[in-house]
Amino acid sequence: MMNPLLTLAFAPIPVPNNVPTLNPSPYFWLPVPASTMAQPIDDLFNYVMWVSVISCLLLMGLMIYFVTKYRAKSRKDEGTSSSDHHTGLELFWSIGPLPVLLAMFVWGFQGFVALRTTPKDAYEVHVTAQKWKWLFEYPNGYTDDVLHVPNGRKVRAVINAVDVLHSFFLPAFRTKIDAVPGRYTELWFEPTAPGTYPIFCAEYCGTGHSAMITKVVVHEAASFDKWLEDAGKAIDALPPEELGQKMYNQQGCSGCHSLDGSPKTGPSWKGLFGKSETMSDGSSVNVDENYIRESILDPQAKIVRGFGPVMPTFKGKLSDKKISGIIAFIKAQK
Ligand code: CUA
Repeated sequence: MMNPLLTLAFAPIPVPNNVPTLNPSPYFWLPVPASTMAQPIDDLFNYVMWVSVISCLLLMGLMIYFVTKYRAKSRKDEGTSSSDHHTGLELFWSIGPLPVLLAMFVWGFQGFVALRTTPKDAYEVHVTAQKWKWLFEYPNGYTDDVLHVPNGRKVRAVINAVDVLHSFFLPAFRTKIDAVPGRYTELWFEPTAPGTYPIFCAEYCGTGHSAMITKVVVHEAASFDKWLEDAGKAIDALPPEELGQKMYNQQGCSGCHSLDGSPKTGPSWKGLFGKSETMSDGSSVNVDENYIRESILDPQAKIVRGFGPVMPTFKGKLSDKKISGIIAFIKAQK
């Protein structure tokens, strides 16, 4: 029978429904390796771990052995030993571990420099973190809530956060960096195996932190450009209501606006269109196309009574077509 605490520790992490099965790891304690940096980092990890395990066993083993062997038989024996100092031994255990530890430093520093030096010819993707969504933007303007990258190509992610600190964590690529509001951070990786791998937020960012999960899809290099072009076209070809639904999920609307009538951080979209709402200043507004558009571009202009001025503006982030799509989607929530 497994200890209940252990059972809990090994319970699978709940993953939102839209994240498909991910590549299982061949290792017991490390995630599946899928970037050029994975092997060197795993090697260093294993080196540090085994040095620690061996030193620990050696120290504890010798200590227990000596404590038992040289135990004082009586009060008289205490402090009478003539061999309480041995210069040779002291030099041995001071200098002996030095190369082992220096190797950790040199090896680790090399890895750090390699991880933090972005190659010049890298393919660039923009990453936006917000409570509690990841959004990826491609050079052709295509946006997606899943990261897609070509296999065998160096990718540079330029990262920022809209609201609070988040952390962009790609365990399969062995890399992670904070997403900071008001500044850009970056990381790079070169995927080595097509497949799907998890992306986590690794910085506590509020009640939805544990659900701030998405995935990275590594495409075959030859088909990536074609995929990106098609994905961009497919978005443009969507009927307004479907485009609106996509934006609802992608742009983080779903974090604050429910579709079932329950109030969250913002008003629910169910039955919203055509409704008369009382604003925080007591005036009343009929929810029509213009009000929705204004609320997306200038959310603080008119706030429904009972809600806080917390919505970020989407000015410059959503095209007119996407805004019209969102309006169509809200209309459909009867
Ligand atoms: Cu975002 Cu934790």
